Amino acid sequence: MRYPAVSYVRQNNILLLRSFMILLLSCVAIKLDLCFSSIPSSLKTLSLNGHFTFDENEFAARDYGNKYHFLPMAVLHPKSVSDIATTIQHIWQMGPSSELTIAARGHGHSINGQAQAQGGVVINMQSLHGPEMHVHMGRFPYVDVSGGELWINILHETLKYGLAPKSWTDYLHLTVGGTLSNAGISGQAFRHGPQISNVHQLEVVTGKGEIINCSEEQNADLFHSVLGGLGQFGIITRARISLEPAPKMVKWIRVLYSDFSTFTRDQEYLISAENTFDYIEGLVIRNRTGLLNNWRTSFSPQYPVQASQFTSDGKTLFCLELTKNFNPGKTNTINQEIEGLLSQLRYIPSTLFMSEVPYVEFLDRVHASELKLRSTGMWEVPHPWLNLLIPKSKIHRFAGEVFGNIATDTNSGPVLVFPVNKSKWDNRTSFVAPEEDVFYLVAFLSHAIPLSTGTDGLEHILTRNKRILDFCEAAHLGGKQYLPHYTTYKEWRAHFGPRWEVFQQRKSAYDPLAILAPGQRIFRKAISIL
Ligand SMILES: Cc1cc2nc3c(=O)[nH]c(=O)nc-3n(C[C@H](O)[C@H](O)[C@H](O)COP(=O)(O)OP(=O)(O)OC[C@H]3O[C@@H](n4cnc5c(N)ncnc54)[C@H](O)[C@@H]3O)c2cc1C
Ligand SMILES: *[C@@H]1O[C@H](CO)[C@@H](O)[C@H](O)[C@H]1NC(C)=O
Ligand SMILES: *[C@@H]1O[C@H](CO)[C@@H](O)[C@H](O)[C@H]1NC(C)=O
Ligand SMILES: *[C@@H]1O[C@H](CO)[C@@H](O)[C@H](O)[C@H]1NC(C)=O
Ligand SMILES: *[C@@H]1O[C@H](CO)[C@@H](O)[C@H](O)[C@H]1NC(C)=O
Repeated sequence: MRYPAVSYVRQNNILLLRSFMILLLSCVAIKLDLCFSSIPSSLKTLSLNGHFTFDENEFAARDYGNKYHFLPMAVLHPKSVSDIATTIQHIWQMGPSSELTIAARGHGHSINGQAQAQGGVVINMQSLHGPEMHVHMGRFPYVDVSGGELWINILHETLKYGLAPKSWTDYLHLTVGGTLSNAGISGQAFRHGPQISNVHQLEVVTGKGEIINCSEEQNADLFHSVLGGLGQFGIITRARISLEPAPKMVKWIRVLYSDFSTFTRDQEYLISAENTFDYIEGLVIRNRTGLLNNWRTSFSPQYPVQASQFTSDGKTLFCLELTKNFNPGKTNTINQEIEGLLSQLRYIPSTLFMSEVPYVEFLDRVHASELKLRSTGMWEVPHPWLNLLIPKSKIHRFAGEVFGNIATDTNSGPVLVFPVNKSKWDNRTSFVAPEEDVFYLVAFLSHAIPLSTGTDGLEHILTRNKRILDFCEAAHLGGKQYLPHYTTYKEWRAHFGPRWEVFQQRKSAYDPLAILAPGQRIFRKAISIL
């Protein structure tokens, strides 16, 4: 008998205890060692193009957050989609009597163990190359890629054809499957929507081990479920990504504001204007000197000395970050265009910093900082990030309390603030957004300095994050977490709100045993209680 997936904390202890007893008794019955060794050996019997590893899997128990470290029993290094389907079918056929779960691991850049599977199977998606990347030219160009492909590789491949994806993340060493399971939000989202709005088709292996192609036209419900689906409904093995002609160069601009209202008014104006920039983000700079002193960027303006000497004098400043694409040539009018656009903004006049870089260098800007941080061991520290989506009507309330009182410095890492318009988001996907048309992404991208007891120490940052969340809840801001992390059923339900029923229905349709992505801790695999 098969039980539908049950919610994580709903299962009561008595049932758990009973099922544990049954498990224990049956172990005694078939000899203990056999019980615990039979699962790996049954995996070994599967016929695959790739292979399993049972030792030295520590990498699969680590992620960018560096907080959770759950070791899997095995790691699958797939060479084909059928390797993934075969493995899932095998575990699906064990039914609810097995506790084994499966997590796809993209590049493991989650914060809270979302790509881990304690005692289960982790699928190392980057070893899945499948058919090569395939660029299709024409009026609506696209590229077919593996779900385990890194965005940086897609960029390099498509540039050979003068093309590139439209919507990005700030950092490109992330996989297609990993970002499409969340949303993929960056400074292009105001125009193109997030990455999940720029996919035509997916190939997915469901929690029953079926390989299914899906799109707006075909298996549309599965398509929408998987996008922003936190890995709950299937493993993305291929994706068809929409492309556009790539520019050669960008003008990269930063201007400063001391007044939050002026800053957001300009941001909101720019995301709605017909003629505007190609990338629009923003940063909070609190009590910090030097515009360049920021791990997240390789920004180097034409007057670096002036920029590095710029001091905020203990005040909070807001930095609007913009780019405009261009192709160098005789007829280009880029400088006049930029002058025209900037003339409509109300930043502090002496704070215009501009640079000019190749498009690739701009898109891959965080990687340059990563290399520097890696050389000092600072890339591997804990990253207690907090990402929030705040409705436009509440952003001033939020800023007043959070930037004014709770987050009193930005020494522990960049704080991003920028608006997007929801009209570019598809509400049939699993992604959860605030109610309003326009909402802000507010990202606290903190790193914790080991052993520090100051404002950049782990305890301090975690307490600050909790205060921010508590404030949002008490003030009924109607915000949502992005890259959400909760530990209780009640919180997940509240996160999804009216969409919870649909999310649950989709789970029972595509992964009824709750085998997939246990690290999100939304559902818990049901154990047979006979
Ligand atoms: C430095 C840095 C910068 C970032 N910048 C941005 C940004 O600008 N915008 C933004 O939106 N996000 C950003 N992120 C967050 C990032 O998008 C997510 O953490 C994403 O999940 C990471 O991708 P990954 O390939 O490492 O996924 P993983 O951490 O490996 O996986 C994430 C989740 O997706 C599941 N999953 C992975 N692959 C698949 C698949 N093929 N099919 C189904 N499920 C799968 C996993 O099981 C897990 O639950 C950033 C993260 C870092 C570390
Ligand atoms: C999915 O689509 C791809 C390409 O469009 C095709 O090669 C593949 O066979 C399809 N898979 C299934 C299961 O239909
Ligand atoms: C958001 O987009 C919709 C639809 O294009 C538009 O009507 C609305 O004015 C936009 N809002 C803002 C603040 O840009
Ligand atoms: C901000 O900077 C001023 C001047 O350097 C300093 O006196 C103050 O303590 C700082 N505040 C915080 C919250 O770090
Ligand atoms: C999505 O948006 C459309 C149009 O705004 C609306 O009619 C529909 O009810 C929404 N669907 C969901 C699931 O929220």
